[in-house]
Amino acid sequence: MPILARRQCSLDRRPWPQRVSSAATRPLTRYLSSQAAYPHGFGGSLIGRLWVKETANVNDVALDVLAPAGGEDILEIGFGPGRTLGKLAERGARVAGVDVSGEMVRLATRRNQELVRSAGLGLTQTDGIGLPFEDGSFDVVLSVHNLYFWPEPATTLAEIVRVLRPGGRALLVFRGREHPLPKRLDPAVYREVTTAQCVDWMTRAGFVTTSRVRPPAVSTEVSFVLGSTSA
Ligand SMILES: C[S@@+](CC[C@H](N)C(=O)[O-])C[C@H]1O[C@@H](n2cnc3c(N)ncnc32)[C@H](O)[C@@H]1O
Repeated sequence: MPILARRQCSLDRRPWPQRVSSAATRPLTRYLSSQAAYPHGFGGSLIGRLWVKETANVNDVALDVLAPAGGEDILEIGFGPGRTLGKLAERGARVAGVDVSGEMVRLATRRNQELVRSAGLGLTQTDGIGLPFEDGSFDVVLSVHNLYFWPEPATTLAEIVRVLRPGGRALLVFRGREHPLPKRLDPAVYREVTTAQCVDWMTRAGFVTTSRVRPPAVSTEVSFVLGSTSA
């Protein structure tokens, strides 16, 4: 580790003020990255509340792309504060969600109290490596700003195929390698994913069609990848 650190230092040819400034902000970058992947404690709860507004546009566009029909069963992976769960239900879908963070399960449950009570909205804490649902339980799976954090993307995608019904669809939305943000975050937490890599993973997992959608209302640096299972 010290040898690696020294080697990285000697390769860093940026002017010294830039190096000092990135060294000074590194702990903050690490903290924010870890909170994005696994929101916890007071900081996680605060960041979760900020996401409600920060990610609203991308999530609303994702809903338009999916255009869920009333009565469809939809699973959201990594729902964060749970705003989109409520929006899906408003469109007539039956909704379930999984998220790795207990703090987000609490926040989203509080935000969707009525849905939990009246429609039996089920929110489960899990890392997505295994999805706690029967085969063919859902028509749609949605996951926004998540793929970077999945410990085993291929396994999670195979799980998504398993829990989808024939002709089911999945939409993954993420800031691809083209976007500047993931580069500024901690690489130990944020996996840089390209759109092509996501398409390849989905194809290998068993999606029969996989394509990039380019909604006009969102920067092209955000990737929307839509896949469907065989009918
Ligand atoms: C950047 S937030 C995005 C939240 C929400 N989808 C949105 O667009 O506002 C990432 C969320 O993914 C969750 N997450 C991270 N890794 C996960 C995993 N392996 N399985 C399920 N959820 C995960 C985090 O707990 C967090 O709530």
